[in-house]
Amino acid sequence: MRSRILLAASAALLFSCSPKTVVQPTTPKTTEPPVTTVAEAPAPMSENVMKGKDLYDGRCGKCHPLFKPSDHTAEQWEPILKRMQKKAHISDEDMVLVHDYVFANLSQ
Ligand code: HEC
Repeated sequence: MRSRILLAASAALLFSCSPKTVVQPTTPKTTEPPVTTVAEAPAPMSENVMKGKDLYDGRCGKCHPLFKPSDHTAEQWEPILKRMQKKAHISDEDMVLVHDYVFANLSQ
């Protein structure tokens, strides 16, 4: 009887000494600082559009007051630009820039 108690006691002792698997609290992940997205700046004028504007301003106001891109619709501009390219003697490459400028500034 006595030995049983001893056994039980030692068992309890053993149990209490058994290495407890300590559940480590998972270290809270350091929350990544939110990636600061640079606020979208208004689309800068593309290089083509800027060059086109220079050409337009310099070449298209010689014979008549400078028209504004917003004075005509895209459909109107296509034939006009073809006509005026010949009048202004603008190369095909430069005309692409003028076209880009005009079409970037059409009235919506
Ligand atoms: C050599 C002179 C000359 C130059 C340079 C010239 N134009 Fe003209 N433009 C005219 C004449 C003349 C007219 C009227 C006859 C016509 O529409 O073809 C005209 C008319 C226009 C019109 C009115 C068309 C309509 O149907 O109402 C627009 C818009 C125009 N030009 C844009 C331009 C642009 C853009 C350029 C540059 C790429 C340009 N012009 C360069 C002579 C010129």
